[in-house]
Amino acid sequence: MKSLWQDTANLPSFPTLQEGTKTDVLIIGGGIAGLLTAYFLKEKGIDYILVEKDKICSGVTGNTTAKITYQHSLIFHRLIKSYGADKAKLYYEANRLALEKYREMCLSIDCEFEEKSNFVYSLDNMKKLVKELQAAEILGVPMKYVKSVPLPLDTVGAVMCENQAQFHPLKFLSAVAKDLNIYENTFVSEVRDGTTVTDKGNITAEKIVVATHFPFIDSHGSYYMKMYQSRSYVIALEGAVDVEGMYIDECDKGLSFRNYGELLLLGGGSHRTGKKGGSYSELRAFRKQHYPTSREKYHWAAQDPITLDGAPYIGHYSKRTHDMYVMTGFNKWGMTGAMCASMIVSDMLCGKDSPYKDAFSPHRSMIKPQLFLNGAETALNFLTPTKKRCSHLGCALKWNSAEKSWDCPCHGSRFDESGKVLDKPANKDISTL
Ligand code: FES
Repeated sequence: MKSLWQDTANLPSFPTLQEGTKTDVLIIGGGIAGLLTAYFLKEKGIDYILVEKDKICSGVTGNTTAKITYQHSLIFHRLIKSYGADKAKLYYEANRLALEKYREMCLSIDCEFEEKSNFVYSLDNMKKLVKELQAAEILGVPMKYVKSVPLPLDTVGAVMCENQAQFHPLKFLSAVAKDLNIYENTFVSEVRDGTTVTDKGNITAEKIVVATHFPFIDSHGSYYMKMYQSRSYVIALEGAVDVEGMYIDECDKGLSFRNYGELLLLGGGSHRTGKKGGSYSELRAFRKQHYPTSREKYHWAAQDPITLDGAPYIGHYSKRTHDMYVMTGFNKWGMTGAMCASMIVSDMLCGKDSPYKDAFSPHRSMIKPQLFLNGAETALNFLTPTKKRCSHLGCALKWNSAEKSWDCPCHGSRFDESGKVLDKPANKDISTL
């Protein structure tokens, strides 16, 4: 089923690459991060090409809940604890500027941009909310505590930031993409020594930006070790309620809420891709209990790369690849994450130093507990004796009966029933015989 966004926007179409070519900057991936990077490069007068293996916005960008906020769950306390207040402040400032940039761009784009307050609620952990408020005060983030939220849940309250926003992401990107230099249905199989191999010919580029949601070049950067993927679900309900804001549970497995017009978007069922966990059934049970007269109009799933410390990886792909850049690991906050990434990387591509790049450097320390959990998960699934194996690094695939796909718990690749790749890092189809 198409998501609400995919069903209600008209995205422009672009040609397929016909033969090998040359460009200054090649952007691989036509989701929000790649499109915004192309948009800023065009503004700066830089020669670029963007290639997308399907249609633009056909991946996770079309399956978001489209909340534009710098309040990424309880991130500020976590960042201060890991890196100190200076770096946490850079993270906040970069995301605040991203929100400002959307506000500015949406003045001339008809994409239903609306100012809304954002709330992070907790069912039972007041201590966490207090720590986040203290972190916000240190960083100068305008955040308040509210005792109750208009949701059918027993909470201990929420921390709230006013003047955040929501919009229709594909109406926005439809306007952004309109005059960009894009080739759709052009599949990149390999990048070697500045040459990118596609199924339509080779592209020679001085600089390459990998904006493919999950990076697929494993010879550098170790992204498959320092990220896992999380799957989550959304149902759009007609005849529910207006919650007048954007809400998310501080607990990973909790629910999220926002409205779009008459619809209530209820999200949740989050779990590591390939592992057992919630699904549409959990959301539908909640609908039945709390909004019994409502009707489900859309449903869709999202897939998000989760980093070791909650901050994205934006910058040079690896220490040894100075002409290759990456933007990934938005940890479910892809709207502001993609805007930060495209502003930082487009500056770097012009030789301009970004004051924010240190907060997102892909080369920061990997020594985090999640690294060992990711390693253990990979070892366990690699040794599992199942016939169906992932084409990425050979882990055992699990059948996802809710979505009829083969999912890999190691790094989150997914394949449809016929074996076609749905989600990277796998770049090759599998045999389902
Ligand atoms: Fe890496 Fe499957 S995604 S082995």
